[in-house]
Amino acid sequence: MAKKKSKFMCSSCGYEAAKWMGRCPGCGEWNTMNEEVEVITKGPRGAFQHSTTATKATPIIQVEVQEETRIATEMNEFNRVLGGGIVPGSLVLIGGDPGIGKSTLLLQVSALLSNQGKRVLYISGEESVRQTKLRAERLGVHTPELYIYSETNLEFLNQTIDEVQPKFVIVDSIQTVHHPEVTSAPGSVSQVRECTAELMRIAKTKNIAIFLVGHVTKEGQIAGPRILEHMVDTVLYFEGERHHNHRILRSQKNRFGSTNEIAIFEMLQGGLKEVLNPSELFLQERSQGAPGSTIVASMEGTRPILVEIQSLVTPTSFNYPKRMATGVDQNRVQLLMAVLEKRMGMMLQAQDAYIKVAGGVKLDEPAIDLAVLTSIVSSFKDQTVRPTDCFIGEVGLTGEVRRVSRIEQRVQEAAKLGFKRAFIPASNIGGWEFPPDIQIVGVETISDALRESFQNL
Ligand code: TYD
Ligand code: MG
Repeated sequence: MAKKKSKFMCSSCGYEAAKWMGRCPGCGEWNTMNEEVEVITKGPRGAFQHSTTATKATPIIQVEVQEETRIATEMNEFNRVLGGGIVPGSLVLIGGDPGIGKSTLLLQVSALLSNQGKRVLYISGEESVRQTKLRAERLGVHTPELYIYSETNLEFLNQTIDEVQPKFVIVDSIQTVHHPEVTSAPGSVSQVRECTAELMRIAKTKNIAIFLVGHVTKEGQIAGPRILEHMVDTVLYFEGERHHNHRILRSQKNRFGSTNEIAIFEMLQGGLKEVLNPSELFLQERSQGAPGSTIVASMEGTRPILVEIQSLVTPTSFNYPKRMATGVDQNRVQLLMAVLEKRMGMMLQAQDAYIKVAGGVKLDEPAIDLAVLTSIVSSFKDQTVRPTDCFIGEVGLTGEVRRVSRIEQRVQEAAKLGFKRAFIPASNIGGWEFPPDIQIVGVETISDALRESFQNL
């Protein structure tokens, strides 16, 4: 006997309710509650055999841990974002806008793994086997250990995994997969949740690393990736601007490594290529000697990168000045402008300000404050800083420059790329060695920093 049940579920956080609501009580988003009709068949779920062995609680001192074995691909950047390689039995979600290159990346990773003699099963619910083959040909993938399968029924996926016995499985995408016992449409919240739970079980019990592709859409029709984020071990985001060639793979959550690691790739004719020195890429198109441009050495995970910050500060023609920030937090910019007004007496109230991190990177650490602030002053005063200067430091509300983490690595990266002066917090001096060929300017306040970097303020 089948029973029909209707319920409403938030496409963003998975909150369930018996009636429709305009705003989700779970996450506060509007218009995300969608109706889901489920047919519930009586009796236990029969399609898959669930493990029913009960386990016992163990005293922690008796738990034996083995060193995690990780499988490294030849793509070092990819390994690093995962925390040093792929962990067998892990479930990894790769999210990103359609067309950004998720399938391309995973097909390349699959090729590298199968070249090592490890069997990979690439399941595509979006493209036919032929289409995937054509893409593989374009990427020059030619290996016997790579299996391609075009299917969306989870039960068949499970059977095929048992037949093929792969070490790695790619599911492209999770939104196309459907669980035969859940009757709501593929891509709906219940489908995505059930399918992910089942794939998690497959990954853990069979010790297979599974990569899920998840499309990110704002409309809420397709289940947002947030529900998935809670369930999987690792969440990676593949980002980038479509009209730019470079793509950033970012780790958002990682049960097996640190987050905030990024890897940078270039999308070329023959697929994605790792960018081994991102600072060079980000400084390539830099407008040397232009007012409003400064360079910061920012940490992305464990790696320093040098990035250009650009500001445009112009008198406003409205009553209310416009403030726009891309790649940095807008509130942070407001705060820095308020500090400049109060501590340096700069009249910024009637100025529009546009701040941008060049190259489409997002910086979210306080150590970029000094560079953002100097860039604002540079545009406002129409004076340039030296093109070989770089700025590192957090700015406090009283105009003090506060110490930051990993100063040595940042300064080393700047020196490596030929910068001649590094403005750093005075409190960061001591306990480490200055690299040769770079002058270190320790500053206590923003006033110190601005006096040193501009000829006449
Ligand atoms: P794709 O991997 O299909 O994106 P997603 O799976 O995230 O939707 O990438 C699609 C884009 O990448 C497409 O616009 C073409 C481009 N591309 C290249 O520039 N070079 C290549 O070698 C490949 C395979 C794709
Ligand atoms: Mg795709």
